Amino acid sequence: MPLLIKNGRIITATDDYVADIYCDGETITRIGTSIDPWLCAPNTTTIDAAGKYVFPGFIDPHVHVYLPFMGTYAKDTWETASKAALFGGTTTLIEMICPGKADEPMAAFETWLSKAQGVSACDFTFHMGVTRFDALAEKQLREIAARGIRSLKVFLAYKGALGVDDRELYHTLKLAKELGLIVTAHCENETLVAEKQVELLAAGKVDPRYHEPSRPVRVEASGVQHLMTFAELTGAEVYVVHTSCDEAVREAVAAIERGVKAHVEVVLPHLVLDQSYTEKPGFEGAKYVMSPPLRDKSQLPKMWNHLASGVVSTVATDHAPFDFEAQKTMGKPAHLGGKGNFTTIPNGIPSVEDRVNLLYTHGVCTGRLTLNQFVACASTNAATIFGMRGKGRIAVGADADLVIYDPAYRGTISAKSHSMATDYSAFEGWEIKGKPSTVTVRGQVVVRDMQFVAERGHGRLTPRQ
Ligand code: URP
Ligand code: ZN
Ligand code: ZN
Repeated sequence: MPLLIKNGRIITATDDYVADIYCDGETITRIGTSIDPWLCAPNTTTIDAAGKYVFPGFIDPHVHVYLPFMGTYAKDTWETASKAALFGGTTTLIEMICPGKADEPMAAFETWLSKAQGVSACDFTFHMGVTRFDALAEKQLREIAARGIRSLKVFLAYKGALGVDDRELYHTLKLAKELGLIVTAHCENETLVAEKQVELLAAGKVDPRYHEPSRPVRVEASGVQHLMTFAELTGAEVYVVHTSCDEAVREAVAAIERGVKAHVEVVLPHLVLDQSYTEKPGFEGAKYVMSPPLRDKSQLPKMWNHLASGVVSTVATDHAPFDFEAQKTMGKPAHLGGKGNFTTIPNGIPSVEDRVNLLYTHGVCTGRLTLNQFVACASTNAATIFGMRGKGRIAVGADADLVIYDPAYRGTISAKSHSMATDYSAFEGWEIKGKPSTVTVRGQVVVRDMQFVAERGHGRLTPRQ
């Protein structure tokens, strides 16, 4: 059904103006002042966006929905994750496909695709995880790339599980260069992590607070430097996911300055949470265990500065949802009544629902980001980097993915009211200043007056260039 959005303040990565937007079918077909509803198709739905922002649909370029990991499975399904994403204004998700080392890439691709297709209410695409590289994997990666998955993912972490060795890394990057793919990478030095973990456990340091000391900032910076060396020698384009600290970003900047094609991502938890959360009493800190870990609070302003200066291009979430009661407790130590330690806490913080609102509240409302920067880092830059031409823009011909955002809204985040499947929120009780009131995905209203009205399976695999 055609849609007319009137009187909104349209904010893109570059523009800020008041106008009307007319969407026919899945695309934006007209933008102008005072588009007369009487001159539109008779069945046009008109929405008054006066006093509100109209943003392009937001894109989260790093999420996990189906994730077999650390002896368990992430809690969301595409039904819950896409609903949560849309409530939070995110209309496209890029999920990491994370096959086990013994799995064939094509089988993994089909599995991950089958979980999303016909279920997701928002659009989606994938980064194809490379957890082994041999002749069969290479052949299948070529086929997967030909099916429109134009980015790969490697882990320089999780020794013995998802991590690749240097030979595999080298050949993955060479293949990416040949096929024009971009390689996203989790960067740490996995050997140092493994050795630090052994030392800490031997010293009886088993609580969540020891997760950060097991993967200090230099361990992450070393991983970034390692990736950059390989990118330089292969000419591949790379994207460093979830940089958590100044030291890691600086390694990427040094490489970019010598000509390496690299992009840098930060994730919402590293902008608003710090290491002290993992030091909460009892086992509470487990809620905040992710990798790379939350850092000392002195890192947060530096990461905001890197974002505002454009050194960091994107804000993702690394949404990796595990329940507190039944899953995070796999890492509860004996002195607290469990059988685990910080190395057995499933890593990840659920946040796909909260990214846009918290970035707006802590970025735009505090003056750290302009509205245009906010749109760039939460939408447009991901669309550009990952080749999604229809996304991240408000322009004639673009997908009609739109977020009518109410800056007057005031509310708080709670696990009791969120749509993510997890039994806790890392942001319980936090205030948000603004919220999407209406959201569209390719012209279809999926959130109306803050109510979810989407059809199951409306989401589609997004074409990529
Ligand atoms: O802690 C995290 N980041 N969990 C998800 C897996 C990953 O490393 O992205
Ligand atoms: Zn990671
Ligand atoms: Zn991740």
